[in-house]
Amino acid sequence: MANDNNRFQAIIAHCKEYGFIFPSSEIYDGLSAVYDYGQNGSELKKNIRDYWWKSMTQLHDNIVGIDAAIFMHPTTWKASGHVDNFSDPMIDNKDSKKRYRVDHLIEAHADLLKEKGEAGAKEAEQLLAEMDALLAKEDYAGLKQLIDDNKIKCSVSGTVNWTDIRQFNLMFSTEFGATASSEDADSKVYLRPETAQGIFVNFLNVQKTGRMKIPFGIAQIGKAFRNEIVARQFIFRMREFEQMEMQFFVRPGTEGEWYKFWKEERLKWHLSLGIDPSKYRYHDHIKLAHYAKEACDIEFEFPMGFREVEGIHSRSDFDLSQHQQYSKKKMQYFDNDLDANGKPFGNYIPYVIETSIGLDRMFLLIMSNAYTEEDLSTPEKADSRVVLKFPAKLAPIKLAVLPLLKKDGLPEIAREIMNSCKGSFRCFYEEKDAIGKRYRRMDALGTPFCVTVDHQTKEDNTVTVRHRDSMQQERIPISAIKAMVEAQL
Ligand code: GAP
Repeated sequence: MANDNNRFQAIIAHCKEYGFIFPSSEIYDGLSAVYDYGQNGSELKKNIRDYWWKSMTQLHDNIVGIDAAIFMHPTTWKASGHVDNFSDPMIDNKDSKKRYRVDHLIEAHADLLKEKGEAGAKEAEQLLAEMDALLAKEDYAGLKQLIDDNKIKCSVSGTVNWTDIRQFNLMFSTEFGATASSEDADSKVYLRPETAQGIFVNFLNVQKTGRMKIPFGIAQIGKAFRNEIVARQFIFRMREFEQMEMQFFVRPGTEGEWYKFWKEERLKWHLSLGIDPSKYRYHDHIKLAHYAKEACDIEFEFPMGFREVEGIHSRSDFDLSQHQQYSKKKMQYFDNDLDANGKPFGNYIPYVIETSIGLDRMFLLIMSNAYTEEDLSTPEKADSRVVLKFPAKLAPIKLAVLPLLKKDGLPEIAREIMNSCKGSFRCFYEEKDAIGKRYRRMDALGTPFCVTVDHQTKEDNTVTVRHRDSMQQERIPISAIKAMVEAQL
C-alpha cells in the first residue's frame, strides 16, 4: 500500500483520469485552488448533496430549505462581523515571499515532528497546545516568538526569515452596476464567504410564511468564496467551494442541549454512510470564531491526517441581533408556549445552533475512504486493481450493463435491461473491450453492480451479477436486477 502522501497523490491522479475532478481552466494551466467536477464527479457530488438535503429537510419535519443569492447587501457583512473580523493571522517569509496562515505553518511543523517517533509526537503536542493558547489570546507577538523559538522554516526558501504577523481579510469583493468605480464604497459587494448569512437575513420571511414554530431549522446548500492564503491540498481548501449549512433556531437557555443534540446527530449522519467510526473524532474549539459561544469540529482521518470536515457552532443570538441593529428591523419571535409559571415565553431573539459542512470536503472524505488498491496476484500471475468502494447510494453509476459479445442479440437484451432500469437509477452501458477489462473500469468508477448478458441469458432470462467489493459473481433472473440494486439505495 502506498504511503499516505503517495496515496493522496494517487487519489488526485485517479480523480482526473476517471472524470471526477479536473483543475479549473486547465488548458490555461489551471487556477490555484479552483477545480471543476467532471462527468462522474458531478454525479457523486450531487448524490452527497442530495443525501444531506434529504436527511435535513425530509427526515426532520421541523427543517426547511432555502436557496439565497450569492450577492447580498454589503451591510450584511458589516453586521455579521466579516468585514472587521473575517481574517486570519498571516506571516510572510522574506526570502521566498511566500505567505502562510500562522496556524497552518505551525501545524505543518508539528506534523514533521510527529514523523520522528514518540519524542517528536510529544513535542508536537506541546507545540500545538502552546499555539492554541496563544491563538485564543490573539497574542501575535507570542506566536511569532513560538515560530522563532522552534526555528520553523519556510518550505520554499528553507529559511527562518519571517515578517511580523498580520491580519488578512479573506473575502473577495467586486463592484455592482455599470458605472461603479472602485472608489465608491456603496457599489462594493462581496462574494459570500459562508451561506449562513443568507439564512439569517431570511429568518423572519421563512418563519412567518412557513408558520414555523421554535425550535426549527433552515438549511441551505450553495457556493461560498474565500481568498484562502494556504490554498493547497486539492479540494480540501479551495477558493470557490460549496457549503451545506443549517441554522437551528432555539429558545434562549436551551442552546446547550441543542448543541449536544446536533453534535451527536451530525456524527450519526456520517456514520450512516457505513464509514469506520475510528476514522472520526471531535475537536472542541478553544479559540472561538467571533460569533461562537461553543464550537467543535468533526474531524476525519484524511490521507494527510485528521482534519476538519464539519463544524457545529453555538452562535447565540449574535447574528440576528447584529442584523436587527444594522437593519433596524425587528428579528424577534413570539413564543406562546408557557414557561414554568404558566406565562408565555413571549418575544425574544432566538439562539442558533449551526451545522456547517463543506460539500467538496465531504467529497474528498468519500473519495479517500473509498479509494482502495488491491493486490490480486496469484502464484501464476501478478495482478492488482484500484476500486472505489463508495456506499452504493452515493456511487455515480449504480449498475453497469455489459453484453458479453457485440453480436448474437446480446446487445439488444442488454439495452432492454438498461431501458427498464434507467428511470430508477443511473445505469451505464458498455460493449467495448474484454469483460475483465470492463469490470476493472467499473471498479475504478466505484460501480457497485455489473450485470453481464451472455448466451445463457437467451435461454433462461438470467444474467451474471458481479459485486464490486467481493468480486463474487452469481446468476440472477433479469426480473430481479432492479430490486437488487434498489435494496442497496
Ligand atoms: N458558517 C460557518 C462556517 O462557514 P467554517 O468552519 O468556516 O464555518 C464550515 O466552514 C465548513 O466549510 C468547514 O468545516 C469545511 O468543511 C468547509 N470549508 C471552509 N472553508 C473551506 C475551503 N476553503 N475549501 C473547502 N471547504 C471549506
